Amino acid sequence: MLVNSRELLREYRRRGRCLPAFNIYNLETIRAALTAARQEETPVILAFGEGYLSHASFKTIAVLAAQLAEEHPLPVVLHLDHCRDPRHIQEAVEAGFTSVMYDGTGLPLEENIRQTRAVVEFARGRDVTVEGELGGMNPEDGTGGEEDLLFTDPSQARIYTAESGVDSLAVSVGNVHGVYRGEPRLDLDRLAAVYQAAEVPLVLHGCSGIPHGDIRRAAELAVAKINVNTEIAMGAAGRVSRELNAGIKRYEKLAAAAEKEMTGIMGDFLRLSK
Ligand code: 13P
Repeated sequence: MLVNSRELLREYRRRGRCLPAFNIYNLETIRAALTAARQEETPVILAFGEGYLSHASFKTIAVLAAQLAEEHPLPVVLHLDHCRDPRHIQEAVEAGFTSVMYDGTGLPLEENIRQTRAVVEFARGRDVTVEGELGGMNPEDGTGGEEDLLFTDPSQARIYTAESGVDSLAVSVGNVHGVYRGEPRLDLDRLAAVYQAAEVPLVLHGCSGIPHGDIRRAAELAVAKINVNTEIAMGAAGRVSRELNAGIKRYEKLAAAAEKEMTGIMGDFLRLSK
């Protein structure tokens, strides 16, 4: 069944655990996430970003996810990842998404709060949860890197969550989208301070490549949702390459192998939620 993320994130925060959100953009990615969740017997968050609109429309993804979630025994959240355009938020919610992220990190704080509050007001009446973000990260496609980071400021987080009414907050504490150039180093003291100020479950983007022990520590302190994409996408590509080298030449076989590979990687992350 499709649900919003409010109760799930509160529950995971209470337990000091985090629920993974996997980026999905076609049937195979959705099926991989649901198979992994079924095997691990955990809820799961399917995250589709604006950047994937060239792969599928909000409506197509919502129809696929709703149909597959109906046959699924555990809660599934259909989340809009990193959305900068409020019209896309409206479109996704109307299509059936149950959770949205408004990314106003490019705006001055006051304007970010104003826009986020408008999204919250729109979403609340439709039983949809809202994730906000404060601080700066490199783009979701993994371009750029550590030089783009602007760590989240706890005092701004207090103002932002109180005035916008978001259900959860994505933070920048050393996490990077894509491949880490060196050892990932999370600022856990800052993470704890931001959580204390924000008083909502925190979200850690860019979790590919972060040692699972560090993710567990972040969840014990503050983080109830982790975002994972690169490890899955690169794992699938690596598997396709190996299959091609082994002489497989048919696309349906490559797609099935990629789905199996993604299911395994997603399962490893879902075990962090237990
Ligand atoms: P990675 O691609 O680094 O795993 O990050 C995914 C993400 O944060 C999507 O919002």
